[in-house]
Amino acid sequence: MSLALKGVILAGGTASRLMPLTKVTNKHLLPVGCKPMIYYSIEKMQSAGVEEILIVTGIHHMGDVVNLLGSGKDFGCKFTYKVQDQAGGIAQALGLAENFAGDSPVVVILGDNIFEDSLCEYRDKYLGQNGGAHIILKPVHDPQRFGVAEISGEKVIGIEEKPSNPKTNLAVTGIYFYDSRVFEVIKTLKPSGRGELEITDVNNAYIAAGTMGFSTMTGWWSDAGTFSSLSRVQQLVEEAPPK
Ligand code: DAU
Repeated sequence: MSLALKGVILAGGTASRLMPLTKVTNKHLLPVGCKPMIYYSIEKMQSAGVEEILIVTGIHHMGDVVNLLGSGKDFGCKFTYKVQDQAGGIAQALGLAENFAGDSPVVVILGDNIFEDSLCEYRDKYLGQNGGAHIILKPVHDPQRFGVAEISGEKVIGIEEKPSNPKTNLAVTGIYFYDSRVFEVIKTLKPSGRGELEITDVNNAYIAAGTMGFSTMTGWWSDAGTFSSLSRVQQLVEEAPPK
């Protein structure tokens, strides 16, 4: 019997780009439309049948996050919480999910990523690909702000993190699927120039192993980590609410 997909929502980091909005609260608790930002990731997972969800957040506002979300029963899910002591990067935060995940595959959503599409199609594609990892790409106008993927035929052949001269306009969105091998990969990483364990290095390890699949996102997608992207998301959510 195959193991159920578990969920990981990464909601740590310093959110310095949104100061002073994030001085006394966590970025992922800021309002987007009529609900806190983190609800969008939870609802995507919940409607894709992911019942066990780990939420990783920093020490400063962990209390607020737990006060808001509780055990998960209001969402029909079961929440587990982990604290990331310092913002050591997305891959470091994901590494905290090792015991939670066990041998199960995981879907990871960066808590400041909001998107229109249902997760179900991407979940099915990943579960049909026989392990490895799966990323979701989206053509954007400002690829230098993101991880940028290079494609050859049906394969991703490399990802560059925030390149000044991007080879393509294909941003790597903050929605990732991994098998349990991801935790071994994370243990091999070294901090990048910005002092973080990079999710792009994790993804490049899967690409090198030939086990990375990808989808291209059809609906809208945005992060909400800067004032301009946060205000863009507010508009998108109002115009075409996420499915
Ligand atoms: O939004 C997609 C992009 O997210 C990808 O294209 C990039 O490849 C990926 O590196 C990431 O880029 P950012 O620099 O925009 O990520 P940021 O530092 O803003 O972190 C995004 C979320 O990840 C944040 O809302 C919470 C979580 N996070 C981040 C860090 C650095 C943590 O939980 N812990 C952390 O230490």
